[in-house]
Amino acid sequence: QVEQSLRPQVLRQYIGQEKTKRNLSIFIEAAKMREEPLDHVLLYGPPGLGKTTLASIIANEMGVQFRTTSGPAIERAGDLAAILSSLETGDVLFIDEIHRLPRAVEEILYPAMEDFFLDIVIGQGDSARSVRLDLPPFTLVGATTRAGLLSAPLRDRFGVLSRLEFYEEKDLSHIIKRTADIFEMEIEDDAADEIASRSRGTPRIANRLLKRVRDIAQVNDMDTITVDITREALNMLQVDAAGLDHIDHKYLLGIIDKFQGGPVGLETLAATIGEESQTIEDVYEPFLLQKGYIQRTPRGRIATFEAYRHFNREVNG
Ligand code: ADE
Repeated sequence: QVEQSLRPQVLRQYIGQEKTKRNLSIFIEAAKMREEPLDHVLLYGPPGLGKTTLASIIANEMGVQFRTTSGPAIERAGDLAAILSSLETGDVLFIDEIHRLPRAVEEILYPAMEDFFLDIVIGQGDSARSVRLDLPPFTLVGATTRAGLLSAPLRDRFGVLSRLEFYEEKDLSHIIKRTADIFEMEIEDDAADEIASRSRGTPRIANRLLKRVRDIAQVNDMDTITVDITREALNMLQVDAAGLDHIDHKYLLGIIDKFQGGPVGLETLAATIGEESQTIEDVYEPFLLQKGYIQRTPRGRIATFEAYRHFNREVNG
């Protein structure tokens, strides 16, 4: 209930991502003027930046139904055919992790996106035949962590490509205050700024930290979230002053202590810290790269001077 209302419903309520919002609002307005469905949209960027939220806002702003699924959930062509044939004119179909669609499914998506029809094969062997099924015009909104993970033919069928960026701290602070307001909690400005500065540019993390800080404030009978309780809570949660958590620490200290600062290959590093390499690449590395703690080189990852300084380490050798 509350969880749902944390998500902004319309573009006007959506904080940050100004470039994406400006573009989308123009494309939405133009599509509405022409009384046409919006062109297909690909949203890409690290997790937690609001891709699903934006997709649902697109449906709301267009005044159509919002249907959602994900790449891994669609195993066979028939699964996608069932979803597509149940759409109504103009509906938004959101496919999260669209890079994980099986290849056979991806291929039936091409004519569906381009010309709104499905070619489905019915029967087997000699009696197999292909039937064409017309679809209502619809808008596909795809989400992925990196546009480069998509095959070129799929990527080319999106009319709008939008990259979501890490949020500025002032925007995160604004989001935290909005969420606190929904929770009916008072929060000091400095406390919101403190959470914002430790949220890795990511609203999902900001809201998660806020919830934990709220828990600690509430068990202490406080009706205002102060900067002091915030610092105490964040330290308890093992989120450091730069927003790095214990996995970031394992990652960076792994490079520094086990590999003399690198370069070290992703797979090797993943094995030493016990995380999936894909998770490291999609979830942890984008922020570490943006903050300049690591660099990617052809021979592997290296820890930068910034990383050494973060841990008060000397660079050896
Ligand atoms: N909650 C999470 N992300 C948000 C955003 N970008 N704007 C407003 N509220 C949010």
